[in-house]
Amino acid sequence: MIPYTVSPELEARIVTWRRHLHQHPELSFQEHRTSAYVEQQLRDLSFFMVTRPTPTSVLAVLQTGRPGQVALLRADMDALPIQEENEVSYVSQVPGVMHACGHDGHTAMMLGAAQALGEHQAELCGEVRFIFQHAEETPPGGAAELVAQGLLSGVDYALGAHLWAAGPSGHIGIGSGPQTAAPDRFDLHIKGQGGHAAMPHQTVDPVVVAAQVISAFQSIVSRTVDPLESAVVSVTQLDAGSAYNVIPDEVRLQGTVRTFAAEVRRDIPQRMQRLLDGISSGFGASATFEYVLGYPSVVNDTALTGAVRAVAVKIFGEEQVLNIAPSMAGEDFAYFSERVPACFFSVGSGNPARGITFPHHHPRFDIDEPALKTGTALFVNTVLTLNARPQETP
Ligand code: NI
Repeated sequence: MIPYTVSPELEARIVTWRRHLHQHPELSFQEHRTSAYVEQQLRDLSFFMVTRPTPTSVLAVLQTGRPGQVALLRADMDALPIQEENEVSYVSQVPGVMHACGHDGHTAMMLGAAQALGEHQAELCGEVRFIFQHAEETPPGGAAELVAQGLLSGVDYALGAHLWAAGPSGHIGIGSGPQTAAPDRFDLHIKGQGGHAAMPHQTVDPVVVAAQVISAFQSIVSRTVDPLESAVVSVTQLDAGSAYNVIPDEVRLQGTVRTFAAEVRRDIPQRMQRLLDGISSGFGASATFEYVLGYPSVVNDTALTGAVRAVAVKIFGEEQVLNIAPSMAGEDFAYFSERVPACFFSVGSGNPARGITFPHHHPRFDIDEPALKTGTALFVNTVLTLNARPQETP
């Protein structure tokens, strides 16, 4: 029945799941204990057909036996190489590894949704697939692998969520169209000719070339991208030299490009290559350029997002549902949204009154745990709405 509300018992279970996962974080593609734990919880619930599509992912399928839509609900499970600095009872027990992005919360919210929908399956038609995905944080990511294996076959719609540190706890952030950027990466080497710092005329100084290249890259977004489009070009790593009086042979630059539109994404590396080649050859240096495509952009389907938003407004009230601006972060849920109508929403998890203010990927990131039931409730109510069993006519 809608609106479904999370019972205090289920909320306590969700928090227990989250804290267990938080204490035992694992990095991308290494989620062995995590996936075993999730699999066990799902088997204990006994509503599902549980399989392991890859060594560290878990799929639970709820078959109602009645014709209807196939829903895919996704949670990611991986942690980050960060040393936790929180002082909480459920602090990470793994040195140098931490759930600093909230994927522990995503998994717990989804286990809660699985239990609730299992208990309410008499009200449903069609099929619900719960995918507990590995490796969101590290390209090529787990989503692409699952898609290649046929996870989306027959799927009518996909839902996913991310906790949102900047969002007030208990609020939902949702929007149509592009939600996350395509996070690409570049790696370039400028080769000059090193020598004595006091005799630069006998060298080709790659540091000076690199400085020109970095400056020129700043003109790509400002001068070549349509001002109504968004893009970022950031040089973030610069390795050169090892002594104050030696001009090095080579400089290495790395960084990231973030875009939304496909044409912008296609054009920027071409501009970079031209600037790099032109500047390097002008100085008598040579350069190599490697550009690695990251995840595509998550794009929310307009109709599905409208439906999810309507459910959110119905259960939480208009003032708890916020329009959210697209983020320059990347997210491999994009591989689902590329192929099926999808909606990826944010669940506010910040609570300044409790000191929960640190951003994602920070050693003191934490989530306001009461927010978890908000995410669970939205997943459950959306599926109860979109996969509602037709009323029998008397
Ligand atoms: Ni994340």
